[in-house]
Amino acid sequence: MVSILGSKETKSGGSGGSREKEVINAVGFVGLGVASAFLGILAHKTLIRRIKNADMITPAMIDKQATLRGVVTRVGDADNFRMYHTPLLSLLRRSAILDKKLTAQDTIHVRLAGVDAPETAHFGKPAQPYANEALEWLKRTITGEKVAVKLLRKDRYGRVVGNAQLRAKWYRPWRKNVSMELTRAGYGSIYEQDGAEYDGMLDKLRKVENEARRKKRGMWKQKNVELPADYKRKHRS
Ligand SMILES: *[C@@H]1O[C@H](CO)[C@@H](O)[C@H](O)[C@H]1NC(C)=O
Repeated sequence: MVSILGSKETKSGGSGGSREKEVINAVGFVGLGVASAFLGILAHKTLIRRIKNADMITPAMIDKQATLRGVVTRVGDADNFRMYHTPLLSLLRRSAILDKKLTAQDTIHVRLAGVDAPETAHFGKPAQPYANEALEWLKRTITGEKVAVKLLRKDRYGRVVGNAQLRAKWYRPWRKNVSMELTRAGYGSIYEQDGAEYDGMLDKLRKVENEARRKKRGMWKQKNVELPADYKRKHRS
């Protein structure tokens, strides 16, 4: 008796459960569909899709001058850096990013818009005066920091030319435009060669460059300043 009852109970309980399961499955299925469509839209809008490196930046993203947020992992020269992109919905903390072992393929190579900095020693060419100071300034100012980069173009080295802005902090509740600050510090001169991108701030750049010259900041301390552009031209030929 006990065993029969028991088996009956199991049977009825089992069939009731499977009907319930079917309903749950159906609801789950629809839910999943909706959720994945939603995620698809988000991913498309780069809210959750990580742009690993400059190769993943499409012409469409440049066309609409998309802004990518991320953390500066490395400063190469005083006019460029590498950024680890963090999509808007990323949960990764800054410290976790900085602890990562990153290759060049994991970061976006950004060339600062509108400015040139003195050249450091490269391929046997001597460094320009103040190149190391400029590099130290940029390292100190942006390494490990959160930045927003407005994408303006790709250059012939496959880097993205971008207008970079340091995010606000609790003790500095305003943003800082990196090209502007580099120039203000006397380590940047306005880039005037082909493919220059100013993102509408050429006048402002001129103003801070003149101020830096007048106040003899950074590289403007020298009597005769060889502009990075002239230096590059000389060493190219
Ligand atoms: C600095 O760059 C950002 C884009 O990242 C731009 O929106 C902002 O206006 C720039 N700042 C100045 C002072 O022009």
